[in-house]
Amino acid sequence: MERIVSLCKRKGFVFQSSEIYGGINGFWDYGPLGAELKRNVKDLWWRAMTQRRDDVVGLEATIIMHPKIWEASGHTTTFADPMVDCLLTKKRFRADQIDPQSGVVYHFSGAESADKSKKSDEAYSCLVAPGKNPELARKSARQFYQQRGVAEAVLLGERTETVENSTRYNPENGSLLTEPRLFNLMFKTYVGPVESAENVAYLRPETAQAIFAQFKNVAEVARQKVPFGICQIGKAFRNEINPRNFTFRSREFEQMELEFFIRPDEAVEAICGEVARPAGAGHPGPPQRNWGWQMWHKYWVEERLAFYENIGLPRATLVEYWQKPEELAHYARATVDILYKFPFSKRDEKGELAGEELEGVAARGDFDLSQHQRFSGKAMTIFDEELKAAWAKLDEAKKSALAERYFESRRNYLVKMNEAPEQAQKQARQDATALGSGMYVPHVIEPSAGVDRLALALICNAYCEDQAPDEKGKLEKRVVMRLHPRIAPVKAAVFPLLKNRPELVAKALQVRDLLRPFMTVFYDDAGAIGRRYRRQDEAGTPFGVTVDFDTLGEQGAELKDTVTLRERDTMKQSRVKIDALPTLLLERIR
Ligand code: GAP
Repeated sequence: MERIVSLCKRKGFVFQSSEIYGGINGFWDYGPLGAELKRNVKDLWWRAMTQRRDDVVGLEATIIMHPKIWEASGHTTTFADPMVDCLLTKKRFRADQIDPQSGVVYHFSGAESADKSKKSDEAYSCLVAPGKNPELARKSARQFYQQRGVAEAVLLGERTETVENSTRYNPENGSLLTEPRLFNLMFKTYVGPVESAENVAYLRPETAQAIFAQFKNVAEVARQKVPFGICQIGKAFRNEINPRNFTFRSREFEQMELEFFIRPDEAVEAICGEVARPAGAGHPGPPQRNWGWQMWHKYWVEERLAFYENIGLPRATLVEYWQKPEELAHYARATVDILYKFPFSKRDEKGELAGEELEGVAARGDFDLSQHQRFSGKAMTIFDEELKAAWAKLDEAKKSALAERYFESRRNYLVKMNEAPEQAQKQARQDATALGSGMYVPHVIEPSAGVDRLALALICNAYCEDQAPDEKGKLEKRVVMRLHPRIAPVKAAVFPLLKNRPELVAKALQVRDLLRPFMTVFYDDAGAIGRRYRRQDEAGTPFGVTVDFDTLGEQGAELKDTVTLRERDTMKQSRVKIDALPTLLLERIR
């Protein structure tokens, strides 16, 4: 990982934000290559998720929205992580990310100075790992009491206790941590000049909520019928307690989210007579009318895995992790995390990289739209003509069975949201009656990915060290970024063999201008050709185009207007006609 981070800075993929002022923890800037890489990630996602589909449309909403949105979504109350501080160094940790430790804990009830002029009754503890010197605990304790004004402390009330798998101690120095406190991760600000409670607003912690809040507007104008989706790419902000692993956990990042709205299963059953369920592993094929939430969920998991493979992440580097029931958010019916095996991932019991989350694909039921319906007082229901017609044809027993199931799920949701039981009952009954007239709040499947995490995965996956011949043919170490041509920041580099031969330079510039309308091209005439190749290998440029004397026809007319095309990964070189270059390269980068 260190080598990757160093390459990112050296080549201009990623810089620390505000570096000249010492940086700011959890914030990263993308340099020239990183900016192109991120743009490619977003463009490919956008193309795959909306432009190449009939059933998904886009949205671009504001970062700051009405604060009620975050009350409805639950973020103001539940979007919090437990944090703990080291009593000695004040370093802050996420309580749920502390590795359990075992050893002997030294407890002290207090301390007083040698001349007895100062005393502290504050208790302190420090864990000493097996085999380590107990003096370490006493040294930490003296430091702790010194910070409280007791210099050269005589420690009081020492006693020991053996603990196993405790998360109460700082893994770095054994010092006791504070009790966990919940810390809301939303960045708060004020709208307008007055910093008062009624002007509080938040930087969005996810892009998803804007999609729910604009659902009705989009559904009306987009001429879409459920099932259909709304997608968005944009910045999100989380005041992470412990930003870490380079850009993986940042405080400012970008998300690519799709909310795909579907019929409740009861509506599918009313229309199709049955609801199809996943029958095995793999992609379930093109969407069908009789799909319920499980098929749609499976479909989106497979679509997203295919997307990652299509931009160069091999299937073997990805993990499809089905959250266990106890891990699911209270509103989720199922969530699959798509993990990438980052170099910093933890290892499983077999020593394999376990993977870290790139994307979550969640089946969220009708929770989000229902919440916004309750908080805004605006109906989030849609009218489904097909359902109304199908319902009218059902026999009474079927109608009542489906209505009862729908009633139960609506009532459960309302009760969970603390509605009074009678009110929940009444509202759920109305919802079940409305279903029979074709009205319902759509359910949603949400594939939610991070741009920065994906860019980092692509960088980690591409980084490679191999050997290449130097100018004299001697093998030397080569760093090469094997980025898929679709994602590579620069697609082709164009080189004149020598920069002091105007005919070569003029021809190379012509080739650059020929390719430029179709792809990002980099022109480089500085240094020996081998060095120029190496620089582009490190930048991940898949193709090098060299204009040489053959191009000018000096070695025979048959080679005139041909160039050397060098492939980054194999270092193979071939002779290609200049006219054929755009088509040849476009086939490889699209
Ligand atoms: N709307 C659902 C949602 O926001 P999430 O799992 O909290 O779900 C979705 O976030 C994705 O956003 C993650 O899979 C990850 O790729 C990205 N993400 C979340 N927190 C991040 C952070 N602090 N830094 C970078 N990316 C982050």
